[in-house]
Amino acid sequence: MPDRRTFLRALLGTTATLAVPGLWTAGCRREPADAATIAPSLRRDTPTGPTRTVRLRAEEIEVEVAPGHVYRTWGYNGAFPGPELRVREGEQLQVVVENHLPEGTTIHWHGVPVPNAMDGVPGLTQDPIAPGETFTYTFVAAPSGSYLYHSHVGLQLDRGLLGALIIEEITPHVSYDREYTLVLDDFLPGEPRPLTAATPGMRGRGMMGRGMMGGMMGVQVPPYAGSLINGRLPEAAPVFEVRRGERVRLRLLNPSGASTFRFAIDGHALLVTHADGRPVEPVRVDNLLIGMGERYDVVIDADNPGRWAVVAVPVEGTHPPARAVLHYRESRARGLPSGLPETLRGRPLDYSDLKCLEMLPAQRPDRSFDLLLSGGMMMNPRWAINGQAYPDAEPLEIARGERVRFRMVNHSMMLHPMHLHGHFFRVGDALKDTVLVPPHMGRVVFDFVADNPGRWFFHCHNLYHLESGMAREVRYRA
Ligand code: C2O
Ligand code: CU
Repeated sequence: MPDRRTFLRALLGTTATLAVPGLWTAGCRREPADAATIAPSLRRDTPTGPTRTVRLRAEEIEVEVAPGHVYRTWGYNGAFPGPELRVREGEQLQVVVENHLPEGTTIHWHGVPVPNAMDGVPGLTQDPIAPGETFTYTFVAAPSGSYLYHSHVGLQLDRGLLGALIIEEITPHVSYDREYTLVLDDFLPGEPRPLTAATPGMRGRGMMGRGMMGGMMGVQVPPYAGSLINGRLPEAAPVFEVRRGERVRLRLLNPSGASTFRFAIDGHALLVTHADGRPVEPVRVDNLLIGMGERYDVVIDADNPGRWAVVAVPVEGTHPPARAVLHYRESRARGLPSGLPETLRGRPLDYSDLKCLEMLPAQRPDRSFDLLLSGGMMMNPRWAINGQAYPDAEPLEIARGERVRFRMVNHSMMLHPMHLHGHFFRVGDALKDTVLVPPHMGRVVFDFVADNPGRWFFHCHNLYHLESGMAREVRYRA
């Protein structure tokens, strides 16, 4: 396998300097060195390919999550997850959204640095598309990567208004023979409702309503009945077929409402090749944690014939894991492999393992924000940033061209996948758009370049934390 310099040269066409080794690790107490490199938003405005037009109908649908297990919910084009949108990097994407729902909706192109007016945030970038109305989103599909699209209105995402958006690279930095997309989700059979201080389970240990709580005071999860891969419960586990000797790319996407998953495949290591769509120096691990809004691309070597368990175990809450099957054509085995993979106990991915291949030279930040994440406690139930709950919260003001640093510290007992719209940010040596801030005083620092003007949302991607106020507007000064 080529070494890191070869990857960089292949990608940049130069013998570019390597990124500064990261001082930062998940949950670590240190900031990046001041010499940290900062990457730009990577927004592109000029298409280099044809225009692709897609229609998405937001509507009430019937979904069969397992044989005979049908429920009514909302989705796109009759499907849950919605249809996978797949385009080539540089194409112009035109998505015509028809709203057949009884309430207003929008679509957000999670991770793609689109022009502000195309970002799909009600109250910030557009009015919701009214029932019976149509809205067309147009943007250049770039940069390449694995992304999500989803409704950004209320709790609609947790009804199933979500899907995968894949922007294929012109020249991938790793080779593979076949690929699959795995959409990880939590399964809420009923209508989503905000979790409030009055919700049973918020009163502490011993009084918690079964299913409402993960176990501890301060950890509050909706009553999920299970977990899904590509819209299926384990009873209808999807089967991913491979042939011995193949290299298989898996795009792991987590658009779930409120679940962080630990993902592993029995009998196989995961070669992580992309984080939030950005290419990284490939790193081999046994399992990884994937928060709401995060994406990882991994490549597996199909060199261990058989029928293997693919699992995604929620790390907060009590809902059971999602399951799929990795099946070798050569294998005679049938059924659903039971138990949990050995690899779940192996080497986990750490953010400090991620070395992005697109870093730019070092710069100091021009402006920094200290952001304290809190909530979920009896005295202090609202999820907030610096004590303010959106929309009753001041915008974070920045100016075009600045290098901006966010320093976050988590004073709560839950994970917060913090997501910034419109920009990629640098965290350690990785370029991401969503980053998990660990509970119990976990700290994460990220930097970005203010090069995509507008009114952007910055928020926790746990939908229930977002709905309860864990969000801010990031506003460019006029
Ligand atoms: Cu995927 Cu503002 O979110
Ligand atoms: Cu949160």
